[in-house]
Parts: sequence; structure tokens; C-alpha cells
Amino acid sequence: MAGELDSRVSPLTLEEMAKVKNPMDFYRQYIAEQLSPIVNRPEKELIPLIQWPMTLDKGDLVLAVPALRVKGKPPQDQAKEIVEAFPKTDDTLVTVSQAGPFVQFFAKPEHIIKTTIQEILTHTKAYGSNPTPGLKDPSDPSKGQKKIIVEFSSPNIAKEFHAGHLRSTIIGGFLAKLYQILGWEVLRMNYLGDWGKQYGLLANGFKEFGSQEELDKNSIAHLFQVYVQINKVKEAQDGPINELKKEIKEKKAKGEDVSTLEAKLAPLVEESEDEKARKYFRSMEEGDPEALALWQQFRDLSIKKYQKTYARLNIAFDVYSGESQVKQETIKQVLDNLMAKKIAEESDGAILIDFAKHGAKKLNKAIIVRKDGTPLYLTRDLAAILERYNDYHFDKMIYVVADQQNEHVAQLFKTTEISGHKDIADKCEHVSFGMVKGMSTRKGTVKFLDDIIQTVKDTMLDVMRKNDQKYSQLDDPDAVADTLAITAIMVQDLTGKVRNGYEFNINQMTAFEGDTGPYLQYAHARLCSIERKANADLSALGSADLSLLQETHAINLARSLAQYPDVVLNTLKTREPATVLTYLFKMAHALSSSYDHLQVVGSEPELQKARLALYEAARQVLWNGMTLLGLTPVERM
Ligand code: ARG
Repeated sequence: MAGELDSRVSPLTLEEMAKVKNPMDFYRQYIAEQLSPIVNRPEKELIPLIQWPMTLDKGDLVLAVPALRVKGKPPQDQAKEIVEAFPKTDDTLVTVSQAGPFVQFFAKPEHIIKTTIQEILTHTKAYGSNPTPGLKDPSDPSKGQKKIIVEFSSPNIAKEFHAGHLRSTIIGGFLAKLYQILGWEVLRMNYLGDWGKQYGLLANGFKEFGSQEELDKNSIAHLFQVYVQINKVKEAQDGPINELKKEIKEKKAKGEDVSTLEAKLAPLVEESEDEKARKYFRSMEEGDPEALALWQQFRDLSIKKYQKTYARLNIAFDVYSGESQVKQETIKQVLDNLMAKKIAEESDGAILIDFAKHGAKKLNKAIIVRKDGTPLYLTRDLAAILERYNDYHFDKMIYVVADQQNEHVAQLFKTTEISGHKDIADKCEHVSFGMVKGMSTRKGTVKFLDDIIQTVKDTMLDVMRKNDQKYSQLDDPDAVADTLAITAIMVQDLTGKVRNGYEFNINQMTAFEGDTGPYLQYAHARLCSIERKANADLSALGSADLSLLQETHAINLARSLAQYPDVVLNTLKTREPATVLTYLFKMAHALSSSYDHLQVVGSEPELQKARLALYEAARQVLWNGMTLLGLTPVERM
């Protein structure tokens, strides 16, 4: 199993990526050369117009004639003329046909099969990657890569890891991989919620209810328990305190004497958990070593636990940042600057930004300093953006944060822009996603990522046990169920549009039929099984006689494999993981309808070898696509 995590542990190098070719680039160039004299345009202008069709019946590549912007003649007539003028000798590598205003290009089957399969078998994991988009100067790699920060996951220590964090983790993990195989230098950042008065409450709670042993063993769950316990104490105190405060307010309004009530209130407040938490947090802010040591321990142990869980999703962060890591001096600079530029103003003892006064009518006012002088979530984010730019000089930064925080992120970007950092704000982007609904375990609502996985895994095991024979062949059914469960969760998450939410549906995601995670895994495992049964020597497949692949099923499968690099590139534009996923499902369908027509066992040795080469190429593309999505392909299930 360990080897399968390769894609995370050892990313492709720029050199490896630069060597692999996109079969479609070859055809685009070829077609442009033929077209250039016909339409009287330089090749360079034509290449970007020769595009990826949505389905293979529309060609391997397609030109929408209106894109040529030639006036005076209906596009379908122009398309017809192009088709008539296109060279048609025996050695032309592409045939053409007209469909309305489109010219469709079909690569010669023998040629596309050969170039595609050989490319895949030679460059294996690197197939589909392409460093060009991420290079500062594509013609000179020595000028370096563009740098991107993807900030994602970002849970809050001692609180639930909720559905929003799960989605952020899955989508962010995917985006990070995508940019990586397109040549960017990627920094994965986790911005933990790890600072604030609640950590004072937690620390005091720990002294009362905590156990060092439990903390070491089960940090996240234990801290959560402690937090729940101390919160109960706090809430019980809040009731009477709030009642007294209300009474005082009412009496004051009537002009009555409140001194006895105030004398009653003072000790309650003084001894309340809330006040103790505030004091504790203040000592943290002031750098008290003892207070910080305990907090540091909570943070370190939580991170250790998070790392283990993220590893199950093939994710490793480069930086565990967090609200605690934002420097006070940066916050002060931000505030001073906002006041000096009159972007922020005082109101009722607090400091706020009234966005309507700064050309952003749709944004609500935001407080950036409370009456008691403490900065807020937004304030820290404002400082963090500047610190990140200083530290990393990124070319782009993506925040993968739930749509519930759309306004927060818009306020963050807007403030950054108007406070003199438009250049930085322009490099930032919010990938906003819809929420997951109905995520709960058999025992109740979800608290931690591990619980979510366990719940899905239980169902997965039930589904797997239904096929007794296969189940009994697995060396480690538990490990397989684990991987399948994670795949099921991730695929369901990545299936729809990012901005749409979805209903967490365990039965649907764990099914083997339909476009599910287990179906994708099954497609991969089946190819592995074909190779095992044929006792295939994979290293010898390069010498296969690919001209033997003449069946329509073989041709269409190879054509589909040829599309993969374009699919990846297109995903950079859509930034929708579903672009990759939809492709993989289509390809898997093409595969499963091929098996009856392209049998391996029982066919002639040379034909067997050619078919194995095709299947191994398909397996590799599945593997590449699945790992791009963050999945771990299984070899048996
Ligand atoms: N910790 C936050 C939460 O759980 C998410 C942080 C998002 N990132 C940011 N830079 N504000 O709601």
C-alpha cells in the first residue's frame, strides 16, 4: 500500500513534466499547418482555435469557424470550403468533416493509437502534466516557476471538524495537486483557528477536567470533551449573570438604586469562567510563558493528530499557520494604516469599516477592533494576507472557504485593495463552496473526520461482504474498506459543481453501480486483475505491435486516453474537479464496454500483448486522474 502514496511523497519534477507530450498538441500543430494556407492565417493564430470537443463523435479536435471572424460568408459555407480544401492524400494524418459551422478533425486511428499509447507507457505518471502554465517564462524554465499558496481545511482546535472543513480539505487538496502538475510551485497552507478567548477557557478547563495521558493518546477528541465540559460550567454561570445585568439595566433606566445588585454581580463576574478565560487569554497575548506552554502543547498535539488524518486523504501541508501566528505588530500596522487612510473609523468605542463609504455598497459594516480593544477574525486575516505576501511573494493565493464566509472574504479582499495593496488583492481568489448537508454518524452528529470515515467504512464493509468470494480473497479487507470509504466520500464531494452543496448520502456513495468512488476503484482493480491473470510483463509492452488494435472499441478507448492532458489543462480554467471526474467515468465506461470485444486471455500472443499495452495505458490514465483527485487507487477489491 505504501508505494501507492508515491504521488504525494514524490511529486513530479519539472524535467519529468517537460518531457511528456500532449498527443493533441501534435495534432493541433499538424492541423494548423494544413489550415494556414487555406484560411490564410499564421499557424500561431490558429492553434488556440483548434479545440477539445466534448464528445468523441464530434472529432478528436474541432474548429468553430465563427472564431475565425471572417465576414461576408455564412460560417457553414466557410466550413464546407475548408473541408473541401483540406489535404486528403493517403498519408494525411487527419480526416475532416463538416457539421454546420464546425470543422471536425479525426486523427487517423493507427496514428493516434500509436502516439498515445507509447507516450503513456513511456512517461507513466507524468502523462497529463504540463509545466508550461506554471512557468514564469515558458521558453526559459531557468526563470523559475510561479508560486501559489492554497489555503485550505483550516479547522478550529478543540472544536468540531465539520462538513465545511471536510469539503475545503478535499477541494483544496485537489487544487494544490492540479497546480503542481501544471508547473506551479505550490504551498499548502492550513490556517488553524487556534487563538482567542476560547483557548483561555480550554486551558482552564483542562486544569479542571483534563488528563495529560488522554491528551497524549487522543488529543483532538480529549480537547473537545474538555471544551464541552467547561462550556457547560460557563453557560450555567452565564444565566444568573445575564439576568442580574438585565435587572440592573432596567432599574437604572427607571432611576432606581442598583448598588446592592452591582455588589452582588461583581464577585459572580470576577469568579466566572468567562472572566478567567479572558484573563488567561490576555496572559497568552502578553506572552506569559506558562500560559503559552499549555496552549502550545494543545496546538502541537492537535496538529500531530490532524497530520495522521490528512495522510489518509493523501494530503500533507507545508505550513501549519493559524490565527495565533499573526504578529501583533502587523495587526497594529494594519490598524494604523486603516485609521490614517480614514478607511476605518471609531464608533461607540469600537473601530469599524463602513464599506458603503468606500465604494462597496453591498458589503456590511465590519468591526475590526472590539470595545475592549481586541482584534477580530477579519483583523487577523487582514494582517495575515500581508505577512504571507512578505514571506512568500506568491503570484496567486487561493482561499478554499465555505460560502457561509463569502462576505468575510469579500471584506478581506476589499479592505486589502483599498488600503494600498491592490496588487496583492488582485492575486487573491476565493474558491467558495456550497455546504454538505445531512452528515451524521450512526451514533449522532459528526465531530471529527475520523468518525466520518469510520461510519462510511462500516457501510462499505457491509457492501463488500455481500460478495463472499471476492471478500475472502482479500489479504486485508479492512485496509481495502478504508481506502474505498475515503474514495467514496471524496468522489461524492467532487462530483457536483464546487459552488453547489450536496446531500451526504452514505448508501449512494458506497454503491458499486453508478458514477461512484467504488465504481472508479473497481475499474482500476479490474485492469490490475487482467494484467495479473495474463502474467503480463509490463516492461515489455513498449515493443507491442499496436497496429493490431483495429477494433472500434480499441480505437475509441485510445482516442479517449489521448484527451486526458487537454482535460487537465481545461480543469485549470474551470477549476472544477468534476471536469476530471466526468472524464474518468466516461473513460471507465468505454473500458467496461471493451472487455467483451478485446479479450486478453485466449487471444494470440502478439494481439494479447497489444491489448495489454492498451489496457495498461488506460490503467495509467485512471491512476493519474485518480491520484490527481487525491484518491489512492487499489489493486484488488
Ligand atoms: N477556521 C475558520 C473556520 O473554521 C476557517 C478559516 C478560513 N480561512 C481564513 N483565512 N479565514 O471557520
